[in-house]
Amino acid sequence: MKVVTTIKELKRILSQDRAEGKTVGLVPTMGALHAGHASLVRRSVNENDVTVVSIFLNPTQFNDKSDLERYPRTLEADCALLNECGAQIAFAPSVEEVYPEPDTRHFSYPPTDTVMEGAFRPGHFNGVCQVVSKLFSYVEPDRAYFGEKDFQQIAVIRRMVDDLGFQLQVVPCPVVREADGLAMSSRNTLLTPEERAIAPHIYSTLTASRQYARTHTVEQTLQYVTEQINAVPGLRVEYYSIVDGRTLADINDWADSDDVVGCITVYCGQKPIRLIDHIHY
Ligand code: PAJ
Repeated sequence: MKVVTTIKELKRILSQDRAEGKTVGLVPTMGALHAGHASLVRRSVNENDVTVVSIFLNPTQFNDKSDLERYPRTLEADCALLNECGAQIAFAPSVEEVYPEPDTRHFSYPPTDTVMEGAFRPGHFNGVCQVVSKLFSYVEPDRAYFGEKDFQQIAVIRRMVDDLGFQLQVVPCPVVREADGLAMSSRNTLLTPEERAIAPHIYSTLTASRQYARTHTVEQTLQYVTEQINAVPGLRVEYYSIVDGRTLADINDWADSDDVVGCITVYCGQKPIRLIDHIHY
């Protein structure tokens, strides 16, 4: 596997691959890779001749500076994992390489980028669109792989792809979970053992709410999930929303959509660490 740090070198290698008729898959990441990321990489390796994995801790999508500062950085271990997964290129540029000038572009795809994470992390999806659109133009992939762990991110990126006319397929990949149900996340390593022990309540409550939802309204189910999780000392629900899986607009009645999704963000512990998850009803 090649580790590339400049856009020029990346484009040079890829234009050679393209000339040989090779297909290209892109897996954008911020590093601190785990089995969730690896599942995306393996899928891309299976479906494309060349897989590029970007490792770039994108400052423009962090509205909270302390979140950016404490984000784990593990480049060496990341490259070892990518090598094992069979990726051809790790693209790990500096901030100056990606943003030689401040990016002043504004992306707006309501309601996908204004609700939930969009409401609680102002500017977050704008930063995601800035970096992902840059990566798409550097790599020009045939397919780009994103995890359903960040359910809302996929909805926003699909809108951006349509808006800007990128000729690529967005491939959504299932959430990879720990044995106790906790969605794998780079932020999980920041949890203390006590916090790690209570975090699985998030997914177990979401799973239990499926049964509850059969005999209760949307509003009652919203309340059930919020109360069950807030009852666990150390967990605090930031929001729980039940939405249409594509538009992300709130629904009032189960019959309003044939893809009903519950999306949650929970603060865990003292620091606190922000954990997100979702469930399909
Ligand atoms: P990051 O959080 O590093 O995640 C990179 C990709 O891995 C995302 O598509 C994310 O949804 C996926 N992923 C993370 N945990 C997963 C899990 N447990 N199961 C399946 N997939 C998982 O998301 C970002 O980075 C950034 O916003 C990025 C798109 C790279 C733009 O900076």
